[in-house]
Amino acid sequence: MCNVVDFNTDEYHYKLPVIYGTFCEKAINISQLRENTGFITFDPGFKNTGITKSSISFIDGEKGILLYRGYPIEDIINKCSFIETSYLILNGELPDTAQLNFFSEKIKKFHHIHKDIKKILYNIPNFYHPMGILSSLTYILDAFIQCLQEEDLYLHLLAKLPILAALTYRKKIGVPPSHADRNLDYISNLLKMFFSIPNQSYEQNPIISDALNKILILHADHEQNCSTTTVRLLGSAHSGLFSSISAGISALWGRLHGGANQAVIEMLETIFKNGGNVNKWIEKAKNKKDPFRLMGFGHRIYKNFDPRAKIAKKVAENVIQQLGISDPILDLAKNLEENALKDSYFVEKKLYPNIDFYSGIIYQAIGFPKDMFTVMFALGRLPGWMAHWKEMKLNREPIGRPRQIYIGYKKRNIKK
Ligand code: CMC
Repeated sequence: MCNVVDFNTDEYHYKLPVIYGTFCEKAINISQLRENTGFITFDPGFKNTGITKSSISFIDGEKGILLYRGYPIEDIINKCSFIETSYLILNGELPDTAQLNFFSEKIKKFHHIHKDIKKILYNIPNFYHPMGILSSLTYILDAFIQCLQEEDLYLHLLAKLPILAALTYRKKIGVPPSHADRNLDYISNLLKMFFSIPNQSYEQNPIISDALNKILILHADHEQNCSTTTVRLLGSAHSGLFSSISAGISALWGRLHGGANQAVIEMLETIFKNGGNVNKWIEKAKNKKDPFRLMGFGHRIYKNFDPRAKIAKKVAENVIQQLGISDPILDLAKNLEENALKDSYFVEKKLYPNIDFYSGIIYQAIGFPKDMFTVMFALGRLPGWMAHWKEMKLNREPIGRPRQIYIGYKKRNIKK
């Protein structure tokens, strides 16, 4: 293992220190490069730039590995609840029984929101997208929570974001709010707040709870993705937790990021309505003159397979089969995946289905409408965003402020 890399030009001979991670991932530390040579590095989209040292999650994109705090995602999915996973991601270790009870009970204590926030929500037009509502109201929450302990703020957000999501949904379909029940666990409460029928006792369905638990775990963290980087960048300017999370939600909304789950279902439905000829759409995706992309395919980091997509596909198949639903969209998705994976364009560019290819099918089977899919992703990603915000703060990271190469006018004078 080398400790330095030589940077040689005709003018400069400079040694750049090398940093190694737990799995021998290597990075050249260029933080003093400009000071010593005048050069900066150029990397649009941060494709090859490490912005921090982190101990929350690890991805090996070539091998399709994802670890949360060292535990493989396949292990967590089979042995943990979403709320245990949230504790793990936020605190670094899995909770023992007492810690889990304390964590869950405290979240339940914060399971209410101020009536004035409800008023604001009820004044937002129904056509506005739930992601815009969630982002705005997360920001506003800050004004209504007087909390001295930072640890409690994380629990307030875990408690309150599902309420905002469920209220948004129920208001849109014209149904009165359903409150959380102290006897229910986190996932059952989430489902109750969304789907309970007024004046009827809420019946839990373990198949649905299990599917939701699993898909939220799959979303829980994913190292320095676009929304997490957004949260860290805001936090680095010492912006508050709520505004940083609100910005993360806005970043996630984009179609190339979390918004892809809604876009995938819309794409699959369009293909289905147009006769289901998947090869025609694969050709369209390959055509560089056509802006169409195969939504739910490709990933910045995964270049072999996305381990989350493999699990999500199984969860989708199980939930659909166990609920006895016949969903032609799942068959179409499998057909599209099979054909794309045989196509040389997708093979050469290493484009595989990502988590969003199957997550929409799961949400649809549970009963969420399409415009709620990305909101569910946000609820799943919340522990990850908060853990990164907390880590960034504990590390006392400097304000995020990239440089640029200026290509505009040279200095000129106004002629008048
Ligand atoms: N369909 C067709 N071509 C694609 C696709 C696609 N889905 N994805 C990438 N390509 C092509 C792209 O045109 C480019 O071709 P070329 O080298 O000829 O210019 C090449 O593959 C590399 O793509 P890129 O856009 O440079 O890669 P990136 O790392 O900047 O983007 C991505 C990654 C996920 C934004 C992109 O693959 C994409 O747009 N996928 C569809 C949207 C999607 O499913 N997003 C969800 C991502 S996973 C959930 C999450 O955000 O965490």
